[in-house]
Amino acid sequence: MRFHIVTIFPEIFDSFLRTSLIGKAVLAGLLQVEFIDPRSFTEDRHHTTDDTPYGGGDGMVMKPEPVVLALEAVDGKLGAKARRVLLSPQGQRLQQRHLEELAALPDVTLVCGRYEGFDERIRTLVDAELSAGDFVLNGGEVPALLLLDGVARLLPGVIGKPGSLEEESHRGGLLEYPHYTRPREFRGLPVPEVLLQGDHEQIRTWRRRQRLLRTRDRRPDLWHEFQPGDEDLRLLEGEPDPVAALAGRTYLALLHHPVFDRNHELVTTAITNLDLHDLARSSRTYGLAGYYVVTPLRCQQDLARRICQHWRTGHGASYNKRRAEALALLDVADDLASVVTRIEEREGKRPVTVVTSATARPGQLSRQEVLRRLPEGAPLLLILGTGWGLTEELVAAADFALAPLRGRDAYNHLSVRSAGAILLDRWFGLRE
Ligand SMILES: C[S@@+](CC[C@H](N)C(=O)[O-])C[C@H]1O[C@@H](n2cnc3c(N)ncnc32)[C@H](O)[C@@H]1O
Repeated sequence: MRFHIVTIFPEIFDSFLRTSLIGKAVLAGLLQVEFIDPRSFTEDRHHTTDDTPYGGGDGMVMKPEPVVLALEAVDGKLGAKARRVLLSPQGQRLQQRHLEELAALPDVTLVCGRYEGFDERIRTLVDAELSAGDFVLNGGEVPALLLLDGVARLLPGVIGKPGSLEEESHRGGLLEYPHYTRPREFRGLPVPEVLLQGDHEQIRTWRRRQRLLRTRDRRPDLWHEFQPGDEDLRLLEGEPDPVAALAGRTYLALLHHPVFDRNHELVTTAITNLDLHDLARSSRTYGLAGYYVVTPLRCQQDLARRICQHWRTGHGASYNKRRAEALALLDVADDLASVVTRIEEREGKRPVTVVTSATARPGQLSRQEVLRRLPEGAPLLLILGTGWGLTEELVAAADFALAPLRGRDAYNHLSVRSAGAILLDRWFGLRE
């Protein structure tokens, strides 16, 4: 495979291309790297490749012409168009799948920027823009090295034992399992027994479980994307899961009072059968500890209890057992304070209260931010409003307020059932 690197600093690559596996790959001709210096495509005495930005401002910009002539020179020599990749902090974050895609190509041109970056028109002439990560470096050469290194190890013959690539981190969406070598015990830390017994099937399943657990616990972003198979779900059974543990101490409260109506009057809204069922089913699906329906009206409380009774122990229970399981989570309360007290009695700690709203207000937090601020092991109470939303006093008294769920425009009038389900899926779902 051939890399064509457009850079004004080719010397940065020298020792890298002479060292270790990459050095061997270059010597063996498995990897060829040539450099094209945009300076050679300038006509002024100083071989200038940068210029001041139109519109003013600090810093210099890479001129389009020397870079584009360099790209054209590569293709002219090849008699074909090499894949052009621009290194830029504004590109897609470099991932294993990019490396795999590039490793399958005969020729790749990497364009390394310097100064404040490229004249924008250069971007129109490349096939992809890749970033080494969400930070800014002085030039594209170090990102090009990263890419080169990652691609080279995928080329046939570069790694002695290609099997070792199969279960590496980021293959199949998972991180790799832990490795151990001699000694059997190091500073009191033993090698896991399973690795010493030579049972290949047990070792395989142990390693698979470790890959799953590592990815789940260290990289929720990857885990959300990963689709576990049946064996994976079996391997995870009984393993402590921090997200499931949080769900297991999380409660939902649906407030029918104190809420506003459309005229901003303080009212008590009516309970609905659908809200009782659907939020109980969502609570059960995402592993919540309980679901409170809050109304001060005795007749409404009685109605909610009767509906529950029907599905838990009445005819409904034998008609649909799953519904009984969901409605078992439902309880009725007079007000939010009594919900907090009941959770505190049950959990031994006061729950952290989080209010939701369809309206954006200052101080609202993202789920990630609430999770960051949540004290270790604290129970959580997610509060949903009805009518035209929760009162300002109630919002102000909560520990945290969540930012609203949003579509792509200003309309976000979800039913409380939908909002609750979306919220729970984001907080506790296996993938987003
Ligand atoms: C100082 S940076 C320019 C950053 C640019 N002003 C911006 O804010 O997007 C100069 C060059 O370094 C390279 N570079 C810097 N950070 C990078 C990153 N995270 N990934 C890939 N290339 C990067 C790019 O080639 C870029 O054009």
